[in-house]
Amino acid sequence: MSLNVVVLAAGQGSRMKSSLPKVLHPIAGLPMAQRVINTAQSLEKAAVHVVIGHGADRVKETLVGDDLHWYLQEQQLGTGHAVQQALPGLEGQSGVTLILYGDVPLTRQETLARLMSEVQDKELVLLTLEMADPTGYGRIVRSDDGAVQAIVEHKDATPEQHQITEINTGIMAVKTELLAQWLPKLSNNNAQQEYYLTDLVEMAVSEGKSVSATQPDFAWEVEGVNSRVQLAALERIYQQVQAEQLLINGVTLIDPSRFDLRGNLQCGKDITIDVNVIIEGEVVIEDDVIIEANCIIKDSVIRKGAHIKANSMIDESEVDELCDIGPFARLRPGTKLASKAKIGNFVETKKAIIGEGSKVNHLSYIGDAAVGAGVNIGAGTITCNYDGVNKFTTEIDDGVFIGSNTCLVAPVKVGKMGTTGAGSVITKDVGDNELAIARGRQKNLSTWKRPTKQS
Ligand code: UD1
Ligand code: CA
Repeated sequence: MSLNVVVLAAGQGSRMKSSLPKVLHPIAGLPMAQRVINTAQSLEKAAVHVVIGHGADRVKETLVGDDLHWYLQEQQLGTGHAVQQALPGLEGQSGVTLILYGDVPLTRQETLARLMSEVQDKELVLLTLEMADPTGYGRIVRSDDGAVQAIVEHKDATPEQHQITEINTGIMAVKTELLAQWLPKLSNNNAQQEYYLTDLVEMAVSEGKSVSATQPDFAWEVEGVNSRVQLAALERIYQQVQAEQLLINGVTLIDPSRFDLRGNLQCGKDITIDVNVIIEGEVVIEDDVIIEANCIIKDSVIRKGAHIKANSMIDESEVDELCDIGPFARLRPGTKLASKAKIGNFVETKKAIIGEGSKVNHLSYIGDAAVGAGVNIGAGTITCNYDGVNKFTTEIDDGVFIGSNTCLVAPVKVGKMGTTGAGSVITKDVGDNELAIARGRQKNLSTWKRPTKQS
């Protein structure tokens, strides 16, 4: 049975007060509509039909996925009108169509799977919710025996219908063949003069088709975003859900409400994460790692027992077992640290391979460099990797000692067990075991007189 998904994403979202189309506002770093597409495609292979309108070009440029199809809804004449735009992509097909909203980002895969399994022996399944205050929502009208009869929009409802607390979330699964038959029959003969998708329910019932409803486990799964206040509230809920999952999996979060995951974190056991840590993209953290406060770790791997001290930033880097990073370290893309390496405070690395047990403890820039094992790089060392046009590499072999405040003007190499004197500007290769000193010699002038104050 083939799955088609229609994502409604044409609405303006004027209450966001933003030049960014509403459905592109992110939750945990990912545009809302992208979350919707990803969840739908995680169910099974599905063609996804996205109905766009406001900010159409930008939405189209931003969202990605397999088998995506775009439909422009030039005027927003209602949810039924929106789905009608996708009709060319649905006609002549069997299977099920799932209708989702691009601004309802957190529906779980399990919930959509439930809709999918329920619709197999029915024609239409709605996702509904009991709400203490149902004002504004479409109400689920049921017969005395509890069968779903219709959805009536708030503005069209009678005072008695306003008492109904079961609301339409807007999400539904429907047999594609029937959807394609029913869509052209929708009219806009209602209080808002909109083409209501919800009229499908009455059509189905009048044709004797079976309609049912199922509920999500959590209300936040069907919450939509119309303002930044709602966006922020959903972000917090999502972060809390993720944090709880990490706690359940054996990660200590010192304060789960001050932890943010914007991506995927693959975690070992007995990891401790202090407050205000942000994890972005694809991150792996192995057993026994300690991450102190205020660290940002993006698209990186942190292996067993590494200790990331406060205020460090790690981006597209690999940190091997038992490394010691920070505080205030910045590992930029392409940094690869072998086990037990140490990168201390105010050290920046970029495209730097650093060997086992090597130390760059203070105030240095190591970029485009290959550093061997057991190397000690003194405070204030700079690899001068850029001549203003091209980048060059620095090679520092095993056991080297780089004196403090050395400038290594690349391309340059310091051979095994080589040493550079403090304050040297190294422009030529240094051989194995050699000491290179490249600085002005000290002169002490005993005849020198201090200047005196002139009247
Ligand atoms: C709709 C339902 C209502 C339900 C509510 C849940 C209908 C007629 N009503 O209300 O029963 O309780 O959702 O939030 O379906 N959209 C378009 N093009 C349009 C109209 C809407 O793309 O022409 C998109 C919006 O961007 C939004 C979604 O469809 O993502 C829902 O639209 P919205 O106007 O919020 O819902 P209502 O029609 O008021
Ligand atoms: Ca509306």
